[in-house]
Amino acid sequence: MQVVFLGLPGAGKGTQAANITEDFGIPHIATGDMFRSAIAAETALGKEVRGYLDAGLLVPDELTIRVVSDRLQASDAKQGFLLDGFPRTQPQAVALDRILADLERPLTHVLYLEVAEEELLRRLTGRRVCKQCGASYHSKFNPPHVDNVCDRCGGELSTRPDDEPQAVAVRLRENMQRTEELVSFYTARGLLAKIDGEQPIGHVYDEIRWILRGERV
Ligand code: AP5
Ligand code: MG
Ligand code: ZN
Repeated sequence: MQVVFLGLPGAGKGTQAANITEDFGIPHIATGDMFRSAIAAETALGKEVRGYLDAGLLVPDELTIRVVSDRLQASDAKQGFLLDGFPRTQPQAVALDRILADLERPLTHVLYLEVAEEELLRRLTGRRVCKQCGASYHSKFNPPHVDNVCDRCGGELSTRPDDEPQAVAVRLRENMQRTEELVSFYTARGLLAKIDGEQPIGHVYDEIRWILRGERV
């Protein structure tokens, strides 16, 4: 199963991805997480992308496509994958088609989590993420069992630099039009499943599970 997760910043992609990878045994490939790890490890890639992430701007296509292409060659992606946050532009979508044609593993599902802008703002302002494993929490909507401690790995929680209001505004502006274009692109291909992302986390996941098991189209 080759799955793409589409959704604006804060739609719940990372939150839902954690359940999907556990239940369906496919790796979670999230460009944002890969870039943040590179920044934390101070690699050459990290130095190159840091300014874009902190400001909320998109990393240039060529670089992003190279990172994803390399990652999809890894052996764990041979049985399928969940791509979170890629593609985000039309050139990335076209490049993904080409990469997957070479691998002979075409996309099977594109899941679009639809959430209104006011709700995205509420979610991003209260978000806390695990420094160690990247799991997402929310001070009100999805708090960890123990204050400031990740339920999954015991890591410490922190606030993402790009969840500061100015960067949030840039991220929404950068992604709105492009996401709409990708929704049209994948609808035309008959791959898109639209999900009401404003439901409680468990309900959203129920729908995702139905779709991936072929019980809802
Ligand atoms: P990335 O890390 O992908 O950030 P994003 O797209 O802005 O998405 P988020 O991770 O913020 O949101 P999410 O949908 O994962 O929401 P979450 O589950 O955490 O990318 C970061 C940056 O990297 C980009 O800005 C860009 O610079 C660069 N980049 C990445 N990919 C790129 C690409 N392809 N091309 C170019 N540049 C790229 O949930 C959000 C909050 O809501 C949490 O607090 C959560 O607890 C809460 N929540 C989740 N679901 C619910 C629910 N159902 N009800 C209530 N609360 C909920
Ligand atoms: Mg995310
Ligand atoms: Zn963790």
